[in-house]
Amino acid sequence: MSGSNKQPDEKLTWKPGKRDLLFLAIVAAVVLILTLGSSDRTTKPVPDDAIHRTVSSRAACMVCHGKGGVHPQPKGHVRSGQCFQCHLQPKGWRGSVK
Ligand code: HEC
Ligand code: HEC
Repeated sequence: MSGSNKQPDEKLTWKPGKRDLLFLAIVAAVVLILTLGSSDRTTKPVPDDAIHRTVSSRAACMVCHGKGGVHPQPKGHVRSGQCFQCHLQPKGWRGSVK
């Protein structure tokens, strides 16, 4: 009946310690990043308006979306590449594919 007579199963009951909580937090963060990341991957489509339905060349796009254009690409935007690889064309697209 002294203090050394502890419950034998005390070590078997799982109580979340600091390490477990950290682990769970990391798992939650990874899941969150993956879900947010995947939804981020959908890029804005090309607007379905008179301008965008007829323009088809990259050079033409850059007149308005280059530096100093009416609607420049955001900072850090990819410098090269086919616009339509990422920005989907509108459904009523009529421009020639280039
Ligand atoms: C005559 C100027 C002009 C040309 C040429 C032009 N755009 Fe735009 N674009 C705009 C303007 C103005 C906006 C912003 C207003 C809007 O949404 O219509 C815009 C918006 C956009 C957006 C963003 C839409 C959004 O939801 O914010 C994308 C993507 C885009 N254009 C892609 C292109 C691509 C690709 C081309 C070439 C095929 C192109 N544009 C050619 C003027 C132009
Ligand atoms: C590798 C993929 C990729 C390519 C290729 C690409 N873009 Fe983008 N663009 C993006 C992403 C990502 C954004 C960030 C905003 C978003 O989700 O649309 C963006 C944003 C833009 C915006 C701003 C949209 C707004 O928020 O108003 C414009 C304008 C634009 N791009 C034009 C172009 C043009 C013109 C070309 C071709 C020269 C082009 N992009 C090629 C991925 C791309």
